[in-house]
Amino acid sequence: MKALVLAGGTGSRLRPFTFTSAKQLLPIANKPVLFYGLEAIAEAGIQETAIVVGRHGAEIREAVADGSAFGLRVTYLHQERPLGLAHAVLIAREFLGDDDFLLYLGDNYLQEGLTGFVERAVAHPDAARLLLTPVADPTSFGVAELDGRGRVLRLEEKPDRPRSDLALIGVYVFSAAVHEAVRAITPSARGELEITDAVQWMIGRGMRVGAETTSRPWRDTGSVDDLLEVNRQVLDGMEGGIDGKVDPASTLIGRVRVAEGAVVRGSRVVGPVVIGAGTVVSNSRIGPYTSIAEDCRVEDSAIEYSVLLRGAAVEGASRIEASLIGRGAVVSPAPRLHGAHRLVIGDHSRVQLTP
Ligand code: TTP
Repeated sequence: MKALVLAGGTGSRLRPFTFTSAKQLLPIANKPVLFYGLEAIAEAGIQETAIVVGRHGAEIREAVADGSAFGLRVTYLHQERPLGLAHAVLIAREFLGDDDFLLYLGDNYLQEGLTGFVERAVAHPDAARLLLTPVADPTSFGVAELDGRGRVLRLEEKPDRPRSDLALIGVYVFSAAVHEAVRAITPSARGELEITDAVQWMIGRGMRVGAETTSRPWRDTGSVDDLLEVNRQVLDGMEGGIDGKVDPASTLIGRVRVAEGAVVRGSRVVGPVVIGAGTVVSNSRIGPYTSIAEDCRVEDSAIEYSVLLRGAAVEGASRIEASLIGRGAVVSPAPRLHGAHRLVIGDHSRVQLTP
């Protein structure tokens, strides 16, 4: 079996981060979300992997290289424009040949990994096999209707009146039969070749489409809220460990990881928290559920349930919560002239001020 990992896309919900970077490289507990997926693919015994990339392809190539660090053989396929998940399959035709393959969305995080799903797909070869999970509000997902034996009868994209609560997770195993389907379908109202339309086309041709349901945590990290929540989940399962310097005036509670080369001074850190190499935290309160990447500076501040990207600096912020702070961004106190906020923020940024 091969793997096709999708790491292109527009990433409009994660602007402004996606103006300068691939959302699949945003860190979860200080590791790019894409790496969790690649590790799970290797663990499932797959080696031949193609990563579909778009305008941030160069950055993804640099981060993943030939995939040997993950135990994979990675090739890259450039998708000119994000024309849909089924379009990504279309352009991968030559790489995939007639092999079965795992289709995986590079911004997804699946706590249970992929091994069991891949093993069961090999044991029960269907034209396609889908992974589903029950959700509270199916109207914003692709939704599957099943028969009593776990076969998929119908798929609907974001239905007004869902026929089940089973949402499609971005993990599929396909046989070569999908290639005819992705050639046959036409773009949806949003102008994309939808993978749900391709699967529905297969069902309509009488092909067997199987499914299994998981209730283990799964999330796409396509929005800031989801990314913070995945970060929380991953930190929750993390071990602590102090390789950096923590001075005697600091208190560390619970699972805290301080990377080699990081410094914590005069601060209270309540885990789970990760602090990256080269970062200095002083006179601050950090955590819980906070990831601070490499080379950041946090001074005289309190930060909780947040993610700081590489090189960010936060100074004199009495309380920051549920925030994602970009690479090299600076948060600092305004000069106390007339109590005004002073903002220099990029396009499509969002700032919420407490009066
Ligand atoms: P989405 O998150 O559904 O789409 P998007 O990246 O365009 O984001 P937004 O809706 O915020 O604008 O994509 C799921 C995954 O598939 C993600 O890792 C990006 C990738 N993708 C491609 O590689 N090619 C594509 O044509 C599309 C639509 C997505």
